[in-house]
Amino acid sequence: MRLIEKVILVFGMVGILTACGQDKSREVFVNENLEFASSQIGLHLEAIQKTGKILNARTIHEDGSTRYIGMHDWTSGFFPGIMWYMYEHTNDRKWKDYGIQLTESISDIQYLTWHHDVGFMIGCSFGNAYRLTGNKTYEKVIVQAAKSLSTRFKPGAGITQSWNTTNGWMSKRGWECPVIIDNMMNLELFFDATRISGDSTFYDIAVQHANTTMKNHFREDFSSWHVVDYDTITGAVRQKNTAQGYSDESAWARGQAWGLYGYTVCYRETKNPEYLELAENIANFIFMHPNLPEDLIPYWDYNAPNIPNELRDASAAAITASALYELSAYSDKKEEYLEKADKIMESLASPVYRAKPGENNLFLLKHSVGSIPHGAEIDVPLNYADYYFLEALKRMKELDI
Ligand code: GLY
Repeated sequence: MRLIEKVILVFGMVGILTACGQDKSREVFVNENLEFASSQIGLHLEAIQKTGKILNARTIHEDGSTRYIGMHDWTSGFFPGIMWYMYEHTNDRKWKDYGIQLTESISDIQYLTWHHDVGFMIGCSFGNAYRLTGNKTYEKVIVQAAKSLSTRFKPGAGITQSWNTTNGWMSKRGWECPVIIDNMMNLELFFDATRISGDSTFYDIAVQHANTTMKNHFREDFSSWHVVDYDTITGAVRQKNTAQGYSDESAWARGQAWGLYGYTVCYRETKNPEYLELAENIANFIFMHPNLPEDLIPYWDYNAPNIPNELRDASAAAITASALYELSAYSDKKEEYLEKADKIMESLASPVYRAKPGENNLFLLKHSVGSIPHGAEIDVPLNYADYYFLEALKRMKELDI
């Protein structure tokens, strides 16, 4: 063997061994976190089962009690989804049994037409249930939910309306057709419905929504506005605002995470390189931001006025980590994204963010925020932070490196 061949061989071996080492440490990390999750959520499941009720957990009330929700709450798909991820991770029947009960308890959401979150609600519950059981009756629910969501599509603007403007605080904002960046997360339901039904209408709506959002929701630095309001006849943009961020011109942390995740899904489903480029640009905005802390868990808004004395949002971090594991499979920046995702997960699993066993009302992660401007869910656990943390663990486990 010539010297140059020996050198190549040695470097090759070192590369393989390093990759194996990383694989091994990811495996240890995933297993340790799953052990914790099994015990923590297992305790929650036992407590729920003692009540004899089907309870769907969201967060903690101000009085310290656990907040259980009805099916119309926008987060009602996450706790069922948590059951499905636990079943997938452990193959233990108890998660599947409660997953079925919880999932089927929100079945009527397939007919919900008064807001856009039906994608989250049905995707995380029935979507996972269908993926893991192949139960054909769930196909119908997914397609019906996509039909319901499609009633909110406004062809003149090429967008699916997020919120109705007739009630509560929304009626005071002067919006006609508000669309929030979070709505990118509902598109997966459309893609799934087309795959199941063969009806391309859903796919077309998803693509139009993604294209319109790409055109109007992003600033030059690829941060996004939270709310863009449309004229439904002409498609003109009427206003650009925030609802959950610090100000109209700020970058609300969870919004940036929803955008990153949403365009990663759109690239997976369409292979349109513009979506990949946008997802990479959003990632770049997040990770180059001078206000992103070293542990990569963002403040609730990148422009919050009192950084570093502002709350973090673990939910935004968990969503980002999960999105990055997927994006790493499509991008030339694979190593960079894996490194960032691993770092986020390490931070989330540290004692700063991960609950002690038996504490935190048996949720996994601490330190998320729902909506600071509304004074709601300030520095609490949230079911969607736990959901995306478990999803990120699954994606970490399945990495093909
Ligand atoms: N989709 C609502 C939120 O992220 O708070």
